[in-house]
Formats: sequence, C-alpha cells, structure tokens
Amino acid sequence: MTVFENPVYNFSAGPAMLPKDVMVKAQTDFLDWQGTGISVVEMSHRSEAFKGIAEQSIRDLSALLDIPDNYRILFLQGGATHLMSMVPLNLCEKTDTADYLLTGHWGVRAYKEARRLVNANVAATSQAVNFTTIPDQAAWQLSEDPVYRYFCDNETIAGVEFQTPPLLPEDPAGTILVSDMTSNFLSRPIAVDKYGIIFAGAQKNFGPAGLTIVIIREDLIGQAREDVPFLYDFKLQADNNSMFNTPPTFNWYIAGLTFAWIKEQGGVEKMGQNALARSGKLYDFIDANDFYGNPVDTRYRSRMNVPFVIADNSLDDTFLSEAANNGLIELKGHRSVGGLRASMYNGMPEAGVDTLLGFMADFAGRYG
Ligand SMILES: Cc1ncc(COP(=O)(O)O)c(C=O)c1O
Repeated sequence: MTVFENPVYNFSAGPAMLPKDVMVKAQTDFLDWQGTGISVVEMSHRSEAFKGIAEQSIRDLSALLDIPDNYRILFLQGGATHLMSMVPLNLCEKTDTADYLLTGHWGVRAYKEARRLVNANVAATSQAVNFTTIPDQAAWQLSEDPVYRYFCDNETIAGVEFQTPPLLPEDPAGTILVSDMTSNFLSRPIAVDKYGIIFAGAQKNFGPAGLTIVIIREDLIGQAREDVPFLYDFKLQADNNSMFNTPPTFNWYIAGLTFAWIKEQGGVEKMGQNALARSGKLYDFIDANDFYGNPVDTRYRSRMNVPFVIADNSLDDTFLSEAANNGLIELKGHRSVGGLRASMYNGMPEAGVDTLLGFMADFAGRYG
C-alpha cells in the first residue's frame, strides 16, 4: 500500500508537511527538469535554466504578497536564526537601541543575540504567564529613539500569533518593524509596506529547511557595520541577487513550486481561509471538551500551531503512540514545554485535521 492510499498526516512544527502536489511535481521532474536531461540539484546556479527558476519564483512571491517595488527579496542560505544576528548588524551601530517584544521562545532567542550586538530593550514580555498572551500595548515600555521594533509574528512553540502588525497610533512616522514570520509566512496577506524587514525560514510553509527569505525595504540596505561578515551584509546579498555564493538551489526551486501552487489554489487569501478552517475546528473541539485544554489567550491563538494538553498528562505517551498508529505523527509538544501540539501549515489538508479530531474524540471517549 502506498502513502497515497493510507496517508500519514504529519503535524510536525518543522520541517513540516508540504503540499502533496508540490512533492509530486518535484518527484516527476527530479531526474530530468523540463527536458534538460539534468536534475535541478545538478544545475549551475549561473545557468539560464536556474536563472529562470529564480526569477519566476521572485515574480510569483511578489505577486502573492503584493510586494511594493521599493522592497527587495533575498533567498539566503541557512536558517531564520541567522537573521537574529543579521538584523542588528545591518541596521545598528553597537550603541544604538532596538526594541524587542517578547511573546515566546523565538523572540527571546532573537533578543538574547541582539543584546550582544546592540542596546536591546525588552519593550514587552509575557514570560510571567508562560508566553500565553501578547502584553497589552498600553503596558509596552518603548525606548526613546529605537532603530527598529522586533517581534515574532507567530510563536511556534507557545502558539501565540499577532493578529495585526504591532504599530501604535502614536508611533512616529518611520517606525521600522522587523518581523520573524518563519512559522506563518504565506498563510495570510501581509501589508508589506508596514514593515522594514520580514524574514521567514522555509521549512514550515513553503519548502525544505536551509533557505530563508528576506523581504527588505531598499533604504535599509547598505547600512551594515564596517566589520559585518560579508555574507551577512544585506547589500552584498542584494547586489548579487542572492548569488554571491551558491544559493540553496533545490530549496529555492521547491519554494518556487510552492508559490506557484499557492497561486493556483487562490493565493494567500485562500491560505488564510484554510488556516482558519483547520485551526478553528481544532480549537472549537478542544474548548468543547473537558478532556483537552489549550492555555492561550483566545485573542491571540495561532492559526498554525495549536499546543494542547490532556488534563491527565500521564496519558500523553499513550496518546502519541496510538495517534502514530493511526497515521497521525509528530504531535508531541516542544521539549521545553511538554504536552502536545498540532502544527498545521499550508501543506496540511483539512482531511488531516478531520482525522485528528476523530482520533481525539475516540481517545477521550476511551480514556476520559
Ligand atoms: C518562529 C521561528 N523563528 C525562527 C526559527 C529558527 O529557524 P531555523 O532553525 O531555520 O534557524 C524557528 C524554527 O522553528 C521558528 O519557529
């Protein structure tokens, strides 16, 4: 029996499930890309064929997110974690100040790195409540003259998501928002013009790990510190169309296939509807069932990552092994918080969530 007859639904937080159509297309073209007789993995990044793949992917991403002309799109090697160093190194001198909104693990990680490189200020943190909410804006302690305001749009571990860009009515014109969108990129429309920098690792919503996309306003390019390592300089990357050295060509190609797939599906609006449908069903079920719980402030619940607990947590291991036997895998919560978590990115079909709900109801019936 093939996986197509008996699907495995992979709820991993990342690397995560990609759209089946994208995987099949990549498989079909793997040995012979469009009659060239070679695979994309064997193709020079300087070839006309790869140039075509890269340019098409940029056109598609620009169209999907309606990216204004004064922004550049970079396809960088490595993970989103690199950006936690690149952002301060490119935007600030060591004595400059930057504000950080901490709503979970990834914001904290970025802040800890920024603290080594600039004067990083914690403008808000929900650590006292285990990152189950976003602090009220009235309580934010913003700096006098920060270079940028950093936040993680969707905290993958805590399952907390900003619903709108964190700008205040009293913010001065020119406030620069920097957003880590690794775990919710391309899952809804983005008002790109409100941001200075958006970045996202590929391995959740659009491709294999090892590729990070950066969308950066042009005037923020070319301001790096003197001693920035050259590959970390946005200007070097932009001037060389992300090909100063060898880019992660296969990952870039898969990302391009995913962009085309999203376009075919109806764009990021459709991805947003799908995400709401998937997560809405799961939250409604958990809220209606005493056997399970989700601790996150309902105003900020993530549409991508749903952490949940079983009231009697001694059942967690049984839940995980029975779920896996039913083709529902990677439902373990992050090692730092325990419990359970269902991550549902663009590649997760609604049938996966329906199957999960059926299993959860049955499990609660048998052990509740
Ligand atoms: C929101 C967020 N930011 C950053 C990262 C780090 O990405 P990478 O491991 O690709 O550096 C992750 C990884 O899971 C993440 O979820």
